[in-house]
Amino acid sequence: MDSLRHLISPDDLSTAETDGILDLADKIAAAPEDCAAVCAGLKIATLFYEPSTRTRLSFEAAMMELGGGVLGFSSADSSSAAKGETVADTIRTVQSFADIIAIRHPKEGAASVAASVASVPVINAGDGGHLHPTQTLTDLFTIRSLRKNHSLDGFTIGLCGDLMFGRTVHSLVRALTARQNVRFVLISPRELRLPAYLLDDLAAKRLPFEETEKLDAVMPRLDVLYMTRVQRERFFNEEDYVRLRDSYILDEKKMRLAAPDMMVLHPLPRVNEISAEVDKDPRAAYFKQVMYGKLVRKALIMALLHKGGAAL
Ligand code: NCD
Repeated sequence: MDSLRHLISPDDLSTAETDGILDLADKIAAAPEDCAAVCAGLKIATLFYEPSTRTRLSFEAAMMELGGGVLGFSSADSSSAAKGETVADTIRTVQSFADIIAIRHPKEGAASVAASVASVPVINAGDGGHLHPTQTLTDLFTIRSLRKNHSLDGFTIGLCGDLMFGRTVHSLVRALTARQNVRFVLISPRELRLPAYLLDDLAAKRLPFEETEKLDAVMPRLDVLYMTRVQRERFFNEEDYVRLRDSYILDEKKMRLAAPDMMVLHPLPRVNEISAEVDKDPRAAYFKQVMYGKLVRKALIMALLHKGGAAL
């Protein structure tokens, strides 16, 4: 019998399994027609209790391009959560209708609860300020695709903005600690530093990292700059958000400080942190990143459903 796997944290995949999914995404990009029907007759349920554009639509587009169908909801208000149903009961229900589930929820740990009761694969599409492993696959695939040597080892990444609440940052840091010789430059206001458990993990693994509040000073040393939005919805009060939201604004002037082959990533949506004038800079990779997100989700769905020769 095929084993049931979930993707709740990047740690659920070994480095070899992650690379296998990225390799499959490369194959899908080269010949999408080869997998156009591998999920025929199967359905994905997207259960989104929090807003989303890219993540939900890319899961749905991915499943459609694999020949499968989609169902789900895009806000808690339109589901029985509004009547007080628990995540566990919703999963027990939805698995009668769908073969794989992607869930986004404002509470840390919700996806893990979902997986604990599920008889079909569950994918964490973001749980509160905790993790977002499919964005991480997207980020890794983008870095690997755009680096000249196509390697995920041996580079310096600057993570900038809301490192405290940004789940994409937490996920990416976790995944990159499994690689060789990655150097972390953590750029944030003091109030929005990376959580202590992740800093402790970097220190325990003796990985090179530094924390700074100054983006300009570190720009020339970065191979990848990962910009993030200040996560308004996770703040306890609006005044703090307003004070911190424009801590960093990447513009043409700052881009002049960067290496000619530095890449700028952002999980999107952006608010103010990357000025629109940067979009035309060839180093701006955030819209390519969106397109890569669909490819890795196709690969992940195939792997979790053991389709088209893929397996986990
Ligand atoms: C991110 C998220 O939801 O965590 N968006 C995404 O999925 N691409 C980032 C964000 O909302 O800031």
